Amino acid sequence: MSERLFEPVVLGGQVLPNRIILPPLTRSRANEDGTPTELMARYYRQRASAGLVICEGTVVSPQGASYARVPGLYSREQVDAWRPVVAAAKSNGAAVYAQLWHVGRQAHSSVQPDGLPPFAPSAIPIVDWKYRSPHGRIPFERPRELSIDGIAEIVDQFARAARNARDAGFDGVELHAANGYLFDQFLNSGSNVRTDKYGGSVENRLRFIKEVLDAVGNAMPLNRVGIRLSPSSSWMDVTDPDKKSLYSALVRDLNPRGLSYLHLVEPGIAGSLSVGSDPEAIPSADLAELSDGPVIVTGGLSAETAAALVAEGVADLVGFGRLFIANPDLPHRFRHGSDLAGLRSAGLYSGAEAGYTDYPHILTP
Ligand code: PHB
Repeated sequence: MSERLFEPVVLGGQVLPNRIILPPLTRSRANEDGTPTELMARYYRQRASAGLVICEGTVVSPQGASYARVPGLYSREQVDAWRPVVAAAKSNGAAVYAQLWHVGRQAHSSVQPDGLPPFAPSAIPIVDWKYRSPHGRIPFERPRELSIDGIAEIVDQFARAARNARDAGFDGVELHAANGYLFDQFLNSGSNVRTDKYGGSVENRLRFIKEVLDAVGNAMPLNRVGIRLSPSSSWMDVTDPDKKSLYSALVRDLNPRGLSYLHLVEPGIAGSLSVGSDPEAIPSADLAELSDGPVIVTGGLSAETAAALVAEGVADLVGFGRLFIANPDLPHRFRHGSDLAGLRSAGLYSGAEAGYTDYPHILTP
């Protein structure tokens, strides 16, 4: 059955050797200035047997960052330091995309360049979740509401990051519109109570992401731009009374743009956590059906459930985050039915080699 995962697939005009993706995973191994490291190159080289590698969330500006040591794509030094990392990820024929990220209100004054609270569509704080600071979990702050000029500036930052991604050798970019980050904050009415053209109706709440797509489309062809959504998740307080209509409207609006793919996080996943099923969940199949283009489904899948999604025509590609962290040669193990190693929580978000590049391979990269 899992043979289905090894059929080639075309994405953005590129032929991918298989349908298995390494999804974007925050690992906090960049330098403090957001430049990628040699250790990151080693990590991606180990996992280069995926058909598609989507590198970890990469911020478009210092204001867009929340966690320590995440990489960026806003400076010349970052572009130069990404090149060997991208080359390593491409070393086995995978397509390699950058995930462009702005966290909005999920940041904290302690990591904002001006030391003030972060920006968001509206001045509504996250209350049900805590911020992961280097000194433990602390409450989020009330964010500052973005001005119209502030929004335009972020649109430009995404376009610049897309140009930088192309210069660094990435084949494409993914917009991180999942998990309650900035795009999700604009989309959901619980975090967006603006009364201008960016808030109110669904059409208005879709405006920011569409403006970013227009701007990014000037930097690279839209068939090399994917988008990631977590339609069933209210992680970090992104709530809306009708998420099904909201994300369905977005998927329909995206169709004429001919994007590289739609990337759906499965219900039951909340950010980095598995939370089980929810009666309000929107099955990935429901949104996949609305999409004219390729669909990626990620989140808690096994080789069997993933192959079934491909066989049923729900997904064209399938992602495995936690399994790929613990099994750098995951496609090889799937193909041969080999045992899978388990994930260790130590070293997930900090440190050096331990928990990052020290998982055993059957296949030496
Ligand atoms: C995390 O670092 O916990 C994290 C980062 C990006 C996500 C979700 C979770 O999209």
